Amino acid sequence: MLRQEHKFIHKHLLELQSLSKEDIELILETARPFKTLFTRSIKKVPTLRGRTVVLLFYEPSTRTRTSFELAAKRLSADTVNIAVQTSSVQKGESLIDTAKTLESMKADFIVIRHFYSGAPYLLSQYVSSSIINAGDGFHEHPTQGLLDIFTIKEKKGKVKDLKVVIVGDILHSRVARSNLWGLTKLGAKVVLCGPPTLIPLDIDKIFPQVEIEYNLDKAIKNADVINILRVQFERQLEHLFPSVREYSLLYGMNKDRLKHAKNDVLILHPGPMNRGIEITTDIADGLHSVINEQVTNGIAVRMAILYLLSIANSKPKKELPK
Ligand code: CP
Repeated sequence: MLRQEHKFIHKHLLELQSLSKEDIELILETARPFKTLFTRSIKKVPTLRGRTVVLLFYEPSTRTRTSFELAAKRLSADTVNIAVQTSSVQKGESLIDTAKTLESMKADFIVIRHFYSGAPYLLSQYVSSSIINAGDGFHEHPTQGLLDIFTIKEKKGKVKDLKVVIVGDILHSRVARSNLWGLTKLGAKVVLCGPPTLIPLDIDKIFPQVEIEYNLDKAIKNADVINILRVQFERQLEHLFPSVREYSLLYGMNKDRLKHAKNDVLILHPGPMNRGIEITTDIADGLHSVINEQVTNGIAVRMAILYLLSIANSKPKKELPK
């Protein structure tokens, strides 16, 4: 069932930029059999029994945190949630000291979400636990990128040559960055669309194969997939477009606009959604939406990542001391 010819040899999952096409394909293939577990009455396998997964979230999260916790539990790992608001972080403990404390408690995996881009990379330099990036600043959200691609592949049967439009604040979106790396490695035709102030100026130098289109009606013409990004109000981005109303008029997805895309277009959104701003309710809950399936698939993809990292980093079994 799994591809034997390619081995996952990474200690950490920090980004999709440094993964190969084969690594990404292996994660997607590994996730498929894990998803079949979800329909069984007992959704657990003993794969990670005895391993410890620590969830260290410095930013709010519903989907990613719960999904990682369920993924770890379904693999029979022990899980620990660090409530940053009530931890010694509030007494001024540094990120590295916090991680070293968790390492001393023999955490096999530390899943971290942090507002600083590069925080997971920093930890990977200081601790022996496997570090998994659950979203760092504006950098990457690799597991979101992977679950988006898994969902596209599951629904469309392929990724290569599909027209995938990513709409919204590309500049500040870690979701967009992970999607860009993953989708381009797998051969999708990616179109970026959003207000000119929210599209990075030099993006065509990093991704010469990617198309930029500021007009959403033109961008989604013949689209197979539209991935709608959240307007990140908590990052005070309102000054980068004239008003929320204008954003919604020009870049919000609604029923009239969707007519420009293919009849079988898929609508993705990483969540949480601002209904009525970047997406209307009839689209979010409509026939084309796979938003809830993205959430379900997130667990399978995260199980695959925990599994592959554990295999890559497992030491040869030693004889028990006599
Ligand atoms: N998509 C996503 O990262 O959602 P959460 O912030 O709820 O984890």
